[in-house]
Amino acid sequence: MDKNKYILEMKEITKEFPGVLALDKVSLKVREGEVHALLGENGAGKSTLMKVLMSIYPPDAGEVYFMNEKRSGHLSVKKVLEDGISMIHQELAAVPEMTIADNVYMNRMPHKGVFVDEKTMNEETLKLFCSIGLEIDPKWKMKELTTSYVQMVEIARAVSAGAKLIIMDEPTSAITEQEVDMLFQVIRKLREEKKSIIYITHKMDEIFQIADTVTVLRDGQSVASSIPIGELDYQSLIGLMVGREITQMFPENTAVPGEVAMKVEHLSKAGEFQDISFEVRRGEILGIAGMMGAGRSELMSAVFGITKPDSGEITVHGEKLRQGDPRESIRRGMAMLTEDRKGTGLFLGMSITDNIVMPSLRQVKKALFLSRKRMDEIADGQVKSLLIKTAGLGVQSKNLSGGNQQKVLLGRWLCRQPEILIVDEPTRGIDVGAKYEIHKILCDLAKSGKAVIMISSEMPEVVGISSRVLVISGGRITGELTGDEIKQENIMEYAAKLEKEPKGMVKDEELI
Ligand SMILES: Nc1ncnc2c1ncn2[C@@H]1O[C@H](COP(=O)(O)OP(=O)(O)OP(=O)(O)O)[C@@H](O)[C@H]1O
Ligand SMILES: [Mg+2]
Repeated sequence: MDKNKYILEMKEITKEFPGVLALDKVSLKVREGEVHALLGENGAGKSTLMKVLMSIYPPDAGEVYFMNEKRSGHLSVKKVLEDGISMIHQELAAVPEMTIADNVYMNRMPHKGVFVDEKTMNEETLKLFCSIGLEIDPKWKMKELTTSYVQMVEIARAVSAGAKLIIMDEPTSAITEQEVDMLFQVIRKLREEKKSIIYITHKMDEIFQIADTVTVLRDGQSVASSIPIGELDYQSLIGLMVGREITQMFPENTAVPGEVAMKVEHLSKAGEFQDISFEVRRGEILGIAGMMGAGRSELMSAVFGITKPDSGEITVHGEKLRQGDPRESIRRGMAMLTEDRKGTGLFLGMSITDNIVMPSLRQVKKALFLSRKRMDEIADGQVKSLLIKTAGLGVQSKNLSGGNQQKVLLGRWLCRQPEILIVDEPTRGIDVGAKYEIHKILCDLAKSGKAVIMISSEMPEVVGISSRVLVISGGRITGELTGDEIKQENIMEYAAKLEKEPKGMVKDEELI
């Protein structure tokens, strides 16, 4: 690696949104063939800086050089791609019905006469996958792939389009630990081929596994630029990110379990989960662990009434719950933060206050008499306790950073003061400082006698604050852990039982 050869130099980039100085003379220098971690708290300006690079936002000031050439003016998505800069998106950017090969070759399909040359396309795609160490069948449809494979296909597409710099903005927020390993293998391969990667994440352990160099933003300014990872440790990195020391990673869960708040008996839904029975007590944080796709979210969606189970019974505070009716569940004191923040109704065009307070108003008639001032006060309470970074309560939610949007949704459920709170991936996309605050809020809720059910794929979080853990695999409960048994190894062991084959993997015989 040529130590002084920068593929990208962003110099003193400034970008202001109404009321927010998102970037204040930020610089970023990326070398050829390095994995450059771009870090910082929620709202620090990471995504905005990448959007400036992708020419999605024009900067107010500053210069961008890519491969020693100055970039200026608004550039089309196509031009940016042709120049060799690619950003990996997690959502299905492609048509779900398309095959993988179609997607990789979108807009530039090889032809044989007037027909698309599918054979060549499939062969080339397969070669490409092999070159990055990926075993998937190009003939699969995009819609059949899990998030991680969609990402892999996006990476393959970037590589085949000749990308020299690939941006990954929180690529592991929705994939399993094994899939992270697979992603890291691909990233290492890309690095060997002298590609540069800008890697954004809130997961501390990943940084030390994959990054060569680190740049940290805080409140729109660079507080550390291009520091070799070898010069940093966990604590110093956290210090740079949050500007203070964090000595304790998890708050202590001192809540004492009381009476049974909810009882689930023999709940089944074909193709999703089978014969699930458990109870959760007041004062308990019940962790629900397992691999992605194990059926955890499906189970809890049915418990909360978003879907209707085929059979089984749910009892809330000793009384039977009418199933398949989330409004009834809410009336009975339940609340659920679902994992999918876009799908579950963050009203992007509405203000923070409206997003936090309005949905409760529809439930509680007396709240019709709430004044605007009182609503703002309620919202402000959540903004403060969840450390939501915003220019004001009236800001439209779509203008918040990813992590802050997640906090608004959590705030919405918290202000209802539920008796039974179900949270699915509560700290996804949340920075390391704010994670602690959210864990503390969950512990405090338990301590005040509420029942908390937490689905999480972040093992340290499950181990860190759960009073008891259920492990789910293949739609069944495969293990229950209490006290000292709550350990990462034990969870892994139970989670691997009954595991279904992940979608997207090809069996050897299909490759021939
Ligand atoms: N289109 C926009 N209009 C107004 N403000 C915006 C817009 N986009 C971003 N911001 C603001 O700019 C700041 C930086 O946001 P950005 O999305 O870059 O943060 P981030 O570092 O990516 O955070 P996260 O880790 O939560 O994703 C935030 O205060 C955000 O609210
Ligand atoms: Mg972001």
